[in-house]
Amino acid sequence: MTDLLLTCPPGLEDIVELEAKEKIPCASISKRHMGVRGHVLLHIEDGKYNADYMSRVLSMRSIHHVMRYIASFRIERGKDDALSTIYRNVSALDLGSVLNSSTRFRVTSERLGRHEFTSIDVQRASGKAIVDRFSSKVDLKHYDVEVRVDVIGEQCIVGIALTRESLHKRGYRVFDHPAALKASIAYAMLRLAEPSEGNILVDPMCGSGTIPIEAALSILGLEIYGFDVNGIYIDYARANAEHAGVGDRIRFIQYDCRMLDNILTPDRIVTNPPYGVRMEPSRGVRRLYLDFARASYRAMVDRGRVVVIALKHGMMKDILSSAGFAIIKDMPVMHGDLWTHVIVGEKR
Ligand SMILES: C[S@@+](CC[C@H](N)C(=O)[O-])C[C@H]1O[C@@H](n2cnc3c(N)ncnc32)[C@H](O)[C@@H]1O
Repeated sequence: MTDLLLTCPPGLEDIVELEAKEKIPCASISKRHMGVRGHVLLHIEDGKYNADYMSRVLSMRSIHHVMRYIASFRIERGKDDALSTIYRNVSALDLGSVLNSSTRFRVTSERLGRHEFTSIDVQRASGKAIVDRFSSKVDLKHYDVEVRVDVIGEQCIVGIALTRESLHKRGYRVFDHPAALKASIAYAMLRLAEPSEGNILVDPMCGSGTIPIEAALSILGLEIYGFDVNGIYIDYARANAEHAGVGDRIRFIQYDCRMLDNILTPDRIVTNPPYGVRMEPSRGVRRLYLDFARASYRAMVDRGRVVVIALKHGMMKDILSSAGFAIIKDMPVMHGDLWTHVIVGEKR
């Protein structure tokens, strides 16, 4: 049995499962491995694990990293106890096939939850365990092996990284937006929109174009639009789409989403409005959300869907409902270090 551990933004496990079932039907899937968010385990029988299988895993759009799963164990909350448990358990791992005295390695760690220690402490304790046991050498830049030791709540998960860059970095960005969305989350939002062939899909606050570009890269047969009130972002979005090879599949227009009903009759609206934390006072965001929701409702076809990511999700849900949308899904997702919600509304 080969076990692969896939990481994703916490909250996206259902979408990872959906995508994994389509792309790797022979694998069995354990969502939230050990109850841990952001980690999905794929069990693959030995005979079925081959290069084709791995390339299918690496083609997944909802995941960030892929690791060969090694072990998981419980840790204590307190700093000294937890770090000595990590040292003891990592020292005891059967890693002789990947680590020896000539291996250069590094340890990386993601930590989620309240702890009295940092991810740097986890890396230090695990790194010391590996040096003491296998005499391997730490090399943060030119390493042969990356050992990943994640701590989520009271669980610690160890794997060998099979990806270096996170897969959400699609490699097409020539311009970044200060509040760009992760492409993995854009993909998840598009899946929740469930567009059909021939649908008109618009992101009316598209920034640098992540959602429309992800739509063009992952779904065939849509008419795709991206609007933003700021012309500079429209230039960014066009350049990014060109670089992604989908410039001819998306129409980017400088436009104010509050007048959406004057320009389009979309089947699907998928968007990432400003969260309203840094840029504007909350009242400004409320007004924008209200005007956006009303214009979207007026513009959309019956049974059309709107998919929105919001930090002030209670406010966004109330506003979408008051505009006439039925809320059919509310999915918490961690974007960076913020717990946001992806909300799906349907025009009824
Ligand atoms: C969070 S950003 C979107 C980032 C985008 N998802 C990306 O990955 O680059 C929100 C965008 O909404 C745009 N915006 C704000 N008010 C708008 C309005 N009334 N009409 C259209 N766009 C608007 C901003 O210019 C900003 O680019």
